[in-house]
Amino acid sequence: MTSFATRQIQAGYVPGTPQNSAVPPIYQTAAYEFASLAEAADLFALRSAGNLYSRNASPTQQILEERIAALEGGASAVAVASGQAAVAVTLLALVGRGGHVVAASQLYGGTVDLLEDTFADFGIPVTFVDQDDLEAWRAAIRPETRVLFAESVANPIAQVLDIRAVADVAHDAGIPLVIDNTVGTPFLVRPGEHGADFVVHSATKFLSGHGTSLGGVVVDQGTFDFGREPDRWPQFTAPYARVRDLALWERFGLGQAFAALVKSKYVHDLGPSLSPFNAWQILQGVETLDLRVSRQSTTALALARHLQQHPAVAAVHHPGLEGNPWRALAARYLPNGVPSVFSFDLAVPEDAETQGRVARVIDALEVIRLVANIGDARSLVAHPASMTHSHLSAAQRAAAGISLTTIRLSAGLEDPADLIADLDRALALV
Ligand SMILES: Cc1ncc(COP(=O)(O)O)c(C=O)c1O
Repeated sequence: MTSFATRQIQAGYVPGTPQNSAVPPIYQTAAYEFASLAEAADLFALRSAGNLYSRNASPTQQILEERIAALEGGASAVAVASGQAAVAVTLLALVGRGGHVVAASQLYGGTVDLLEDTFADFGIPVTFVDQDDLEAWRAAIRPETRVLFAESVANPIAQVLDIRAVADVAHDAGIPLVIDNTVGTPFLVRPGEHGADFVVHSATKFLSGHGTSLGGVVVDQGTFDFGREPDRWPQFTAPYARVRDLALWERFGLGQAFAALVKSKYVHDLGPSLSPFNAWQILQGVETLDLRVSRQSTTALALARHLQQHPAVAAVHHPGLEGNPWRALAARYLPNGVPSVFSFDLAVPEDAETQGRVARVIDALEVIRLVANIGDARSLVAHPASMTHSHLSAAQRAAAGISLTTIRLSAGLEDPADLIADLDRALALV
């Protein structure tokens, strides 16, 4: 197995026929022609693998899938249209009919919307727990619970999850742990090495790094054995009409059956397919993942240290700082650096004037941009309470560690001195 830096450039693609293109090509076509009706019938019945229709997959997407699986140390992957779609299809495939989800309270706001609102519409119950409270994870598990879900490093407060401990709770209950590793990135932490069974990403963020394209990926680590308790997992172990009544577990087995279910059912039926062009854009970004993430991590720590001693800042939530409650977990899970997405609270009272005071600071920034995104080459800020996490109740925001004065910062690749000068100029208005 080659090293991370080589895999991020080479995994999943060997130049060859038809044109020997050195860089993976974009297969910009909606559909593929079959040599014969027999070939078409085999592909539709999943008797053979090949190109069929771009809602199901494209060769460009498959290169991306192999590459991200290689970076996460997984067995297979499915790429979809967005991180939101990756979380949705992963959890839908695991909960099946009648399943229940236990999720951390410390999540990206869009994921909370999905779990609390849309999943409720679908009749899928979700229990939220404090991710640091192992007893709460254990107590929330019911006979029908099918999955535990959390972020390796949570957006926006950067709480670091004790992945191994939560994986042990999941496995004691005979269910898998799914980790959203969007903020963590496979360069800084590979949740599969700590017991996670499935890893999801918003590829829109660090995997791309250029902020041009939406995408999402789920990696199957090939560790969760759905065949051990077949009655619990009928979506894998019962006859499946889409593969001639063979069980997916029988036909595809460990490390492949999950991807087959996600593609043949959820992506096929709901249609959140990744465009070949976006798959290609994400591949361009992945080639420089380690370089970008290390530099952004170093810059973010410098900004966090600067903000920590600034009189206009009440608190900095960065697990690389002395005194941060997740510092020990960061040292254990993130030895190559702490992610560059962190938050800080302005030293202003929480009252009717708070939004105006926060706005004055954010609107004064000139180098750091106000954008609802992270992991970009550009440094970006957001105000979670009125943007990404605005649909949450006050209690939910408090459980996630977000106040009305919290500003999220995603450090980019600019000169840190320019970023510090920009912050100082804006903070002088407090
Ligand atoms: C941690 C996390 N997961 C998932 C998503 C959703 O990803 P996307 O915006 O690509 O749908 C985001 C987006 O901000 C995120 O930060």
